[in-house]
Amino acid sequence: MPLETFPLPAGYNAAEQVHITQGDHDGRGMIISWVTPLNEDGSNVVTYIGSPIVMYETKYFYELGTGRSTRQFNFMTAPKVGPDVPYTFGVIGDLGQTFASNQTLYNYMSNSKGQAVLFAGDLSYADDHPNHDQRKWDSYGRFVEPSAAYQPWIWAAGNHEIDYAESIPHKVHLHFGTQSNELQLTSSYSPLTQLMDERKKVNRSETPWLIVLVHAPWYNSNNYHYMEGESMRVTFEPWFVENKVDIVFAGHVHAYERSERISNIQYNITDGMSTPVKDQNAPVYITIGDGGNIEGIANNFIDPQPSYSAFREASFGHAILEIKNRTHAHYTWHRNKEDEFIPEAVIADSIWLKNRYYLREEETS
Ligand SMILES: [Fe+2]
Ligand SMILES: [Fe+2]
Repeated sequence: MPLETFPLPAGYNAAEQVHITQGDHDGRGMIISWVTPLNEDGSNVVTYIGSPIVMYETKYFYELGTGRSTRQFNFMTAPKVGPDVPYTFGVIGDLGQTFASNQTLYNYMSNSKGQAVLFAGDLSYADDHPNHDQRKWDSYGRFVEPSAAYQPWIWAAGNHEIDYAESIPHKVHLHFGTQSNELQLTSSYSPLTQLMDERKKVNRSETPWLIVLVHAPWYNSNNYHYMEGESMRVTFEPWFVENKVDIVFAGHVHAYERSERISNIQYNITDGMSTPVKDQNAPVYITIGDGGNIEGIANNFIDPQPSYSAFREASFGHAILEIKNRTHAHYTWHRNKEDEFIPEAVIADSIWLKNRYYLREEETS
């Protein structure tokens, strides 16, 4: 979408690109970030309306700026941490700012269930525009604000966040937060020591669900980016299986795919076949790189579909992960409705996920 699609908000040097992410383990802290467009000091004050005491599961209104430049938003704090507290995530990856991206975002926003977004990397694709057009970071910030200013987005970084433009004329703020409501998160493109440190914080009696965000998928049957995650898989898969990671979300491949619970795949580079091991201690690997990107859909799957691949489709969309309690979560993938610019998404894949730590039973779609 062109830059003019995302004009500045009204008001002199008004806050723009407002986005929030969860700020502490208990779920009562929120980090609020924004940009002021002019090269002068803008207001750095967040004014909360109502009780100054931060409560669980409470709606807070907040204001940025002063006078005619004031803008108001709101968010809900998370429920009190507990093993059986329900919580619902949206899952989006490789969003970009195309018309498909717009459809994905507004499809997600039209579903009132999502309380926070897990983002699997590749945000603005500014580096894919001529001269690495950094203004595309600003337009991206404005594009996602209608959701990201109102509920926490938890970001993993993708390869398109690594850029080398000579000058960056606008302020860019990225936050890679950790959300710890009933789960622990970490991501690739973080220092590996951070991943190892995070695992020490995991207390499955308090946070039963162990979910990991990476960018390059470890199990992928698309010819695009095939086996690019292999070095990470070989390094970390034994730890994921040993610690009963429930779900691994990835982006990078611009299509949708969900795996069976498998581990220790071996590839035959001569005939292209593979032999994974069925493993009920292994996570489900979900590739959700179908947000909209700028390079088009990845519609070149390996034929025949390998046994580790449970469901795959080259369509844009997003997912919803509804954690119900310590044992069950309901997961749905919502395909964008083709050829129609209507905020309506079709559920094309769904499964009840059973927690690996508490209920290591097989699942059926
Ligand atoms: Fe990527
Ligand atoms: Fe991507």
